[in-house]
Amino acid sequence: VDVHEAIRTRRAVRQFSDQPVPREIMEQIVDAGRRSGSAKNRQPWTFIVVTARDTLQKLTGCGEWCGHAAGAAFAVVMVVDDLHTPPTMTTPFDLGRTSQNMILTAWTLGIGSVMGTIYHPDVARVALGIPADQDVPWFISFGYPHPDSDPRNRPARTGARRTFADVTRWERWE
Ligand SMILES: Cc1cc2nc3c(=O)[nH]c(=O)nc-3n(C[C@H](O)[C@H](O)[C@H](O)COP(=O)(O)O)c2cc1C
Repeated sequence: VDVHEAIRTRRAVRQFSDQPVPREIMEQIVDAGRRSGSAKNRQPWTFIVVTARDTLQKLTGCGEWCGHAAGAAFAVVMVVDDLHTPPTMTTPFDLGRTSQNMILTAWTLGIGSVMGTIYHPDVARVALGIPADQDVPWFISFGYPHPDSDPRNRPARTGARRTFADVTRWERWE
């Protein structure tokens, strides 16, 4: 699958099949994140890979829209020293970029994913033993899509994105 095809066809997957993801595939996905560029090459991230069902269940308590973790084959939890250092937004950018590398790599391997925004970081800290001084802004649930949630079985949702003309201006604002 070429990159553009992966970008075009990927959709959020929130229901997963029971099929486990082999360890080497999980490593391949996380390694795609490890290889991301980052501001000043700081590589501010630590990734916690979670496969234990009871821990995945605990991650559902991180926010109202985190329920998908319960059925995931695994989750990757993003941890950084300080989301707001430096104040230039480069750390959130770096985390988004490493996340997208993992998400797209997974999709080329037939593995769906969706982000879980963490509203209650202490839930994640307690579940995973993360020190209080670390930031835990989100995790990503991964797994082979449940047939009901497989984007390849759903109609293309071209209307779900703002149009190219709407989001793009050439040369100037006006
Ligand atoms: C920064 C960010 C946070 C998100 N947080 C959640 C979340 O907490 N729970 C969830 O189910 N989906 C979450 N999503 C997935 C979006 O809802 C989804 O990507 C969006 O609706 C577009 O759908 P698509 O990915 O299928 O194209 C998040 C996505 C992003 C980029």
